Amino acid sequence: MVLPLRGTLLCIGRPKEWVRKKHLFPAGSRKEVFMNTGRQKIDWAAQYMPVLASIKKQFEKDKPFKGMTIGMALHVEAKTANLVQTLAAGGAKVYITGCNPLSTQDDVAEALNDVKNVHCYAKRGCTVDEYYAAIEQVLDAAPSITIDDGMDLIHYLHTKRRELLKKVIGGCEETTTGIHRLRAMAADKKLEFPVVAVNDTPMKRFFDNVHGTGESVLSSIMITTNALIAGKYFVVAGYGFCGRGLAKKAHGLGAKIIVTEVDPRRALEAHMDGYQVMTMEQAAEIGDIFVTTTGNTSVIGKDHFGKLKPGAILANAGHFNVEIDIAWLEKHADSTIERDGIITYVLKGKPVHVLAEGRLVNLATPKGMGHPIEVMDLSFALQALCTRYIAEHGSSLKGGVYEVPHEIDEQVARLKLASLGVSIDDLTAAQKKYQCSWDIGT
Ligand code: NAI
Repeated sequence: MVLPLRGTLLCIGRPKEWVRKKHLFPAGSRKEVFMNTGRQKIDWAAQYMPVLASIKKQFEKDKPFKGMTIGMALHVEAKTANLVQTLAAGGAKVYITGCNPLSTQDDVAEALNDVKNVHCYAKRGCTVDEYYAAIEQVLDAAPSITIDDGMDLIHYLHTKRRELLKKVIGGCEETTTGIHRLRAMAADKKLEFPVVAVNDTPMKRFFDNVHGTGESVLSSIMITTNALIAGKYFVVAGYGFCGRGLAKKAHGLGAKIIVTEVDPRRALEAHMDGYQVMTMEQAAEIGDIFVTTTGNTSVIGKDHFGKLKPGAILANAGHFNVEIDIAWLEKHADSTIERDGIITYVLKGKPVHVLAEGRLVNLATPKGMGHPIEVMDLSFALQALCTRYIAEHGSSLKGGVYEVPHEIDEQVARLKLASLGVSIDDLTAAQKKYQCSWDIGT
């Protein structure tokens, strides 16, 4: 699923003021204040990103991206800015835009534009046309490596800028939905360069998807609504990596968890983890707060809205804004009321509240800051090392989706443990031998 394009060429006719404009705001005090607050946010995050800092140091020495251009479409906020600086320190020219119209922090984008060899085109609240115009601008730089969160850059490259494909040696993808799309593309034999599935490795999923999504979704809901979580029926749609983390954290705050699933094994896992499992149709009548984390479409839709309790709060944590059927609500609501980050749809006199227009709630609410910094330190350390892997090996790999090399995953874990001052045991020679033997003398 991609953001809907209204007319094929609309996105290509980019607004003039976007072209070759390095700063998002005209010269003057507002721009400076923005640059300062953006810089402060980037530096604040840097303090809690020791793993990425150690990689940056190494990159400064080795310059693995010397002469290369990296094109990125990621959530433009302070942690991402630290990844961008790391890649630039490794010798790359970096061109970046957002991967969601509501997740950019404009002050961070502005501060990034002040970093040597970095060009940022992201803008919060951009229209669909502006969103794709910015992707165009990143691609105009003819990147040799792509980094995506959701696969919009790669999709655009393969469908609208095919002449640039021969220049690309490979890419990296950050999230589950992007990897689903890439695998579908590879199965259709349409993916023309190698892409590392950064999301699918333990050091990403076990921390970013579980703890990152769990904590940041809750904090975003709480700060946007000021609603109490304790004692509420909290419905989690999808008991994957994100759903599990969210259920656990909401349970920790005292919520009564209901899980909806389509996979019988994951449904059973949720049951044995102590949660109620039921269909969305059943949950709709009971839930107070609903969060979708499925990567699927219309998970809360026309069959459910009529059953919701008055005042039900709906949010989405999946990558695209298709998990809650907003189009149906827009069409059928008697009226709507807009507040900061909340749209209330009145359905036959009953108010139902949707956060962040049904987009990623942890990033797209006005105060949403995304995952905690320490979690993104791990995810972006993986991104940085996988980007280096592509720089060094991409030209010898065929088009397709590749796992994160085991050594990179382990290296990130070891760097993090070292930063925490935590030591672990090593396998002895006898243990290694024992683990590899089939004749263990029983
Ligand atoms: P996952 O594949 O581990 O889990 C998704 C689960 O949803 C699966 O168990 C699947 O069976 C279930 N599901 C699918 N359709 C369903 C339906 N109609 N009803 C109920 N359950 C259904 O994926 P993961 O890693 O948990 O990611 C989920 C989504 O969250 C993806 O779109 C991913 O890109 C996104 N994501 C968002 C983050 C954020 O910051 N908000 C961070 C990481 C991932």
